[in-house]
Amino acid sequence: MKIYPDNSVILAPLAGYTDHPYRSSAIRHGCRYAFTEMIDAGSLVYGHRKTLSMLKRGSDEKWLGVQIVGSDHDLLRKASEIINGSECDILDFNLGCPAKKVAKKGEGAALAKKTEEAIRAFEVLVKTSRIPVTVKTRILDEADPAPTVFLVKKLVDAGAAAVTLHGRVMSKFYSGDVKTMVIAEVARSVKTQLVANGGAFGHATAETLRKETGCSCIMVARGAMGNPWIFEEIAKGPEFIPPTPEALACEIGLHVADMAGLYGEEVGVRISRKLMIDYVKGRGYPGELKNSVCKIKTLDELKAYLDDVRRGPTPRYRKWLEQNPDAPRKLTV
Ligand SMILES: Cc1cc2nc3c(=O)[nH]c(=O)nc-3n(C[C@H](O)[C@H](O)[C@H](O)COP(=O)(O)O)c2cc1C
Repeated sequence: MKIYPDNSVILAPLAGYTDHPYRSSAIRHGCRYAFTEMIDAGSLVYGHRKTLSMLKRGSDEKWLGVQIVGSDHDLLRKASEIINGSECDILDFNLGCPAKKVAKKGEGAALAKKTEEAIRAFEVLVKTSRIPVTVKTRILDEADPAPTVFLVKKLVDAGAAAVTLHGRVMSKFYSGDVKTMVIAEVARSVKTQLVANGGAFGHATAETLRKETGCSCIMVARGAMGNPWIFEEIAKGPEFIPPTPEALACEIGLHVADMAGLYGEEVGVRISRKLMIDYVKGRGYPGELKNSVCKIKTLDELKAYLDDVRRGPTPRYRKWLEQNPDAPRKLTV
């Protein structure tokens, strides 16, 4: 059975972002499938309060995937047992993270490069988990699909219920072209559901990713940052009406209020500053607006920022929009 219905657009796990307020914002705009941030298996096992709270599913969430990273079999088994007691629908194994602190422990994308070891670690999760286990990984070679086909086939044989494949190699982190040819070859080689990931920033790029990979389900990551409307945009295509500055201000207000509710006002507002910037990025607002966020410490101080957002982008933006009608992250002005 397929994990995701055809044509699903899934919100990627994003460390430092996809907490419950972030997922709620996406849900308000049509997201149905979303993941927690990557959770370190060891931190979960040693019971760090913050880590355990990441497993909590909100009342607005009909579905939640949890992603873990690790390599130690004992920790993976214990982490999976803890997840068995949560309300998550899917346990996803991270075999794609290129970050130094993960790679130096031989985890994430570094583990994927050692196929046999990766499979053994994955088998521990499959054996222990009461919920289906999936994997998110990267292509291993940009030009030759064979190593990635080999890895994904092995993961499927080991019990992967679905595989998400990011079309960039580890050394490229998040930049450069997405090698859709490699994803397409993997999709042709396995019967299990393959989700394509990389470079979907709006309707046009999402359709390209689908067409070139042959995968109807795709995962969006940076395209959703400050842009939860991406789910509506991809679903509606040319019928999509971008948000007004008023709608943008409302969404920022709701998101930051949820952050304050979850983390407390001081911490919640502070860690929301990057979100405030993400929301206005690429939308024609003056640079001073972005600079002003570092002074916002309370929900009350957020109000002046939201008033500036409501006033809308600079007049130059309208002209720019006329010249770039297919731009992602558009505003209705
Ligand atoms: C800030 C940031 C955090 C990320 N955190 C995770 C993570 O926790 N787990 C994961 O599997 N991938 C993570 N990724 C990778 C994304 O999920 C995604 O694979 C990558 O950004 C490519 O998709 P995109 O081109 O649509 O952004 C992260 C990426 C970024 C930029």
